[in-house]
Amino acid sequence: MKKIVVIGSNGLLGQTLVQKISKRPEYQLYAMASGENRETSVTDLRYFSIDLTDLKFIKMQLNLIEPDFVVNALAMTNVDSCELQQDDCKRINTDFVAELAAVCRELKAHLIHISTDFIFDGKEGFYSEEDEAQPVNYYGWSKLWAEEAVINSGVVYSILRTIVVYGKVAGMKKNNIVLWIKESLEKGQSINLVDDQFRMPTYVGSLADACILSIEKETVGIYHICGKDLMSIYDMGLEIADYFGLDTSLLQTVPTSSLTQPAKRPPKTGFILDKAIDKMGFQPMSLREGLDEMMQNF
Ligand SMILES: NC(=O)c1ccc[n+]([C@@H]2O[C@H](COP(=O)([O-])OP(=O)(O)OC[C@H]3O[C@@H](n4cnc5c(N)ncnc54)[C@H](OP(=O)(O)O)[C@@H]3O)[C@@H](O)[C@H]2O)c1
Repeated sequence: MKKIVVIGSNGLLGQTLVQKISKRPEYQLYAMASGENRETSVTDLRYFSIDLTDLKFIKMQLNLIEPDFVVNALAMTNVDSCELQQDDCKRINTDFVAELAAVCRELKAHLIHISTDFIFDGKEGFYSEEDEAQPVNYYGWSKLWAEEAVINSGVVYSILRTIVVYGKVAGMKKNNIVLWIKESLEKGQSINLVDDQFRMPTYVGSLADACILSIEKETVGIYHICGKDLMSIYDMGLEIADYFGLDTSLLQTVPTSSLTQPAKRPPKTGFILDKAIDKMGFQPMSLREGLDEMMQNF
């Protein structure tokens, strides 16, 4: 039986992976995150509370487990916090990943690491896996350095880059685009959405499925994984409001230049998905399909 360790199992992707992998009898699942386990829907989860500053403990547990696959879903994901707290961001998003890659190499475990469209400058989306990375903010740099550390470590790796992930899990600490728009409009609050940033929103269940496909097929290298619709953030708002039958007149368009965010954003990302479709059997979802799946598990 293949052993899989999910690191960062208390986040949106981590919890979704725990839910999905625990339903697969062919895998033995282990989960690691800081604090208490949040995915309490899974009984008898082999859960380890970890502290990133105690790599010795993490290494010891991984040594005992002898995993076949380690999925790293742990990251500092608030782009503006990363800009303001660069030391923390680098420690979590780059240095920890470099250390984890070295441990996985020693243990001959296949590392599946999650990266981002924010490694690109957003001047010329859609991007393929071979396009040149040029981040416009510190989060993007921290994730690009992590990719380089993984690639140079000698570990067997898959790097799955993704874009604007949405979904819902228990005890969420962080909001995402769909929940934020849905909850704001339900309260009758008007919100400002930029109409000059374009993304391909990704349902977290679809990203988790891609991680599992990567495990099943033992894919190696970089893969682009996201939803199939490229749209502005404002158009996402319109579609989300329409889907939930909410008042679209509460959505106001604003240009990015009117926002005072610490971190710059790439204007237009979006991925070419051919590699993941051909080599992995990945099936990208439209925003509507993703919302349908999300609501089945709400
Ligand atoms: N969300 C997106 O739109 C998006 C887009 C592109 C790429 N990605 C990538 O996708 C991956 C998964 O993201 P996600 O959406 O699942 O993010 P998430 O919900 O924010 O989950 C990240 C997890 O990392 C944990 N973490 C952060 N700092 C930590 C630390 N110092 N010690 C222990 N745990 C720590 C968080 O713990 P706490 O919850 O306790 O803080 C959280 O559980 C990340 O690699 C991210 O960069 C995400």
